[in-house]
Amino acid sequence: MSAAGNKGFLLIRVAIDGPGGVGKTTVSRLLAERFCLSYVDTGAMYRAVGVGASEAGVDISDSLALASFLEDAEIIFEAGTGKIFFNGKDFTGKIREPEASTLASLVSEKTIVRKALVALQKNLARGGSVIMEGRDIGTVVMPDADFKFFLDASHEVRAMRRHLEFAGKNSACDAKGSAPELKDVSRDMRKRDERDREREDSPLMKAEGAITVDTSEISTEEVVELIATIIEERI
Ligand code: DC
Repeated sequence: MSAAGNKGFLLIRVAIDGPGGVGKTTVSRLLAERFCLSYVDTGAMYRAVGVGASEAGVDISDSLALASFLEDAEIIFEAGTGKIFFNGKDFTGKIREPEASTLASLVSEKTIVRKALVALQKNLARGGSVIMEGRDIGTVVMPDADFKFFLDASHEVRAMRRHLEFAGKNSACDAKGSAPELKDVSRDMRKRDERDREREDSPLMKAEGAITVDTSEISTEEVVELIATIIEERI
């Protein structure tokens, strides 16, 4: 497997972890712009593997089949644009469709997938300034990050955010043109949370030394300001 990314100017490495719907992506992108950091969305990589494997007809419960599928897979995450390419195909839109969340969560339980993606991510983190978001960045991918944050929010708020996100996108609609209902988004999110937190290999957890930011009742801009202030105070 291979990956590509850009480098920024300040030599700082920031790890952002947390469950789905806490605002990691928007917050990380805004911080990347502000501090001139390379931005890496590791969830997008798990999503690309899940969608790629499913399109190729690979049984994602079969670790051996996944291993052989991954041998020839190439993932390119363009740090500048946030676009993701899987074996040369632009998967940027596809990985945000509702089924991609479940596929990503299922493949991310597999040690073989984690090993391959963590190696790619460690490579992207090497030597340059970066902000990387995911579930295991502060614990596994960049345990020596200069800054570690754990974003959290109530289940209700997170489910509502995801629901509104889907409702704003035609690609998330079903055959009848409707976006997934809130109750379905909420149920799927609970299942994914459970898998992410309870899997054996690098489960979602707060890294030692990470600062928790509860985003339930504050705006994205406020979250960015809060984190930026902490970073600025220390650099
Ligand atoms: O952040 P996201 O919703 O795009 O992540 C999709 C899935 O990928 C999520 O269910 C957990 C998994 N994931 C992971 O296991 N480790 C990461 N570093 C990032 C995502």
